[in-house]
Amino acid sequence: MKPLYLFANWKMYLDRDESVALAEGLAKQLPGLALDARLVVFPTSHSLVEVKNIFDKTQVKVGPQNVYWVERGGYTGEVSAFMYKNVGCQYVLVGHSERRHVFSETNSEVRQKQDAILNAGMTPVLCIGETSHERKDGEVEMVIEAQLRATFTDLTWPADRELIIAYEPVWAVSTGESCDPEEAERIAAIICRYVQGLIGVEPIVLYGGSVRADNVTRYVQEEHIRGVLVGGASTKLDTWLEILGQVKA
Ligand code: PGA
Repeated sequence: MKPLYLFANWKMYLDRDESVALAEGLAKQLPGLALDARLVVFPTSHSLVEVKNIFDKTQVKVGPQNVYWVERGGYTGEVSAFMYKNVGCQYVLVGHSERRHVFSETNSEVRQKQDAILNAGMTPVLCIGETSHERKDGEVEMVIEAQLRATFTDLTWPADRELIIAYEPVWAVSTGESCDPEEAERIAAIICRYVQGLIGVEPIVLYGGSVRADNVTRYVQEEHIRGVLVGGASTKLDTWLEILGQVKA
């Protein structure tokens, strides 16, 4: 059995005390769950080190939601990939739809961030997906392939690194309107095929966008979906534990 990937994006939902409380609650419950899965939490940068220390003796890894590609210098407000590596991070979100659409991050910036994450020795978790307009206009495949081309063309993937891509349709992120699992599977298969063609590596594809306890198993049982990236429902102990309980069952 291939391991299941259960990733939690806490976005900017929790302050420091709330992040610590959630991490402590989860760390306490984990032994009882005996979950054989890759668990990664992406907290806010200001609580990341503290959260990481709480999870240190557990299977949970901690990573940032964003990085800057220059190692160090006069870049007020930024934190580099290198600096997150320095505090022991292993996985990094890159190209999340909120970065792309709220902060106007371009495909070429996503590429620079991904390259910096790889160079720092960490594993990027690349988020891609189409907007509702693009879907209505029949451009889903075109948009996804353009995002993949921008990120993977002329790249040799390091042999020691997992290649993780989260398919997160923008219209499904934090809207309650999750993507039909069969459609998510169709896109996941396209992503696998396209990335294999670009760089000859089989990606690990996750689904993200309004995942909850009542729909999570429908995604993870699909052939090309190896796990989920969960936002809102991962920021409360009870809803996150419900999700973990579902996939364990
Ligand atoms: P959501 O967010 O689960 O709240 O829809 C998913 C994500 O942004 O990764």
